[in-house]
Amino acid sequence: MSEEHDRIFIRNFSIVIVALMVFTVLIVLVALAIHQSQDREPSAARQAAVEERLQPLAGVYAGETGRAAAQAEAAAAATAEPQVAFDGSTDGGMIYDRVCAACHDAGVAGAPTLARDTWGDRLDKDREDLIASVINGLGAMPPRGGRNDLSDEQVAASVDYMLDRIE
Ligand code: HEC
Repeated sequence: MSEEHDRIFIRNFSIVIVALMVFTVLIVLVALAIHQSQDREPSAARQAAVEERLQPLAGVYAGETGRAAAQAEAAAAATAEPQVAFDGSTDGGMIYDRVCAACHDAGVAGAPTLARDTWGDRLDKDREDLIASVINGLGAMPPRGGRNDLSDEQVAASVDYMLDRIE
């Protein structure tokens, strides 16, 4: 009876062991299959993230990359900030000569000159509307006469200069 029992136990135990081994091999095969089906090219975003994590916490603060260099870089960035043209001067005549005269002296593309008869009914427009035309651009005239660093006041000053000179 006991011997019979042992034999049954050993047989069942062997079946379980074999089943586990088969299961193990299956898992390994499935894992291999999944691994091979994966796209193993690292994505650009992941690569960038990895490189960012690898950056030193703080840059070396000496020599080429040191304090003086960092300050020079900051100063360069500050001067690269958009600045108002002509140091903010509101000398309408100067601005007209440097920016507007290129078109308006000769009447390029129908630009009104300082001669009254070239203005037509533009002279009926409000000063504010004329200024707005220059700020926003009109026809062949680019916004601010092509000088985006001109402030509204500077545009107004140059328009006033023109209106004063028209004869
Ligand atoms: C690239 C050439 C060009 C430059 C630079 C330019 N203008 Fe003009 N401007 C024109 C032309 C062309 C017109 C006519 C546009 C139209 O009516 O289609 C015009 C029209 C105008 C008008 C009439 C706007 C209206 O509402 O009828 C004013 C005022 C004027 N310009 C002022 C200026 C001033 C001030 C500057 C300089 C800050 C300037 N322009 C620079 C070409 C130029």
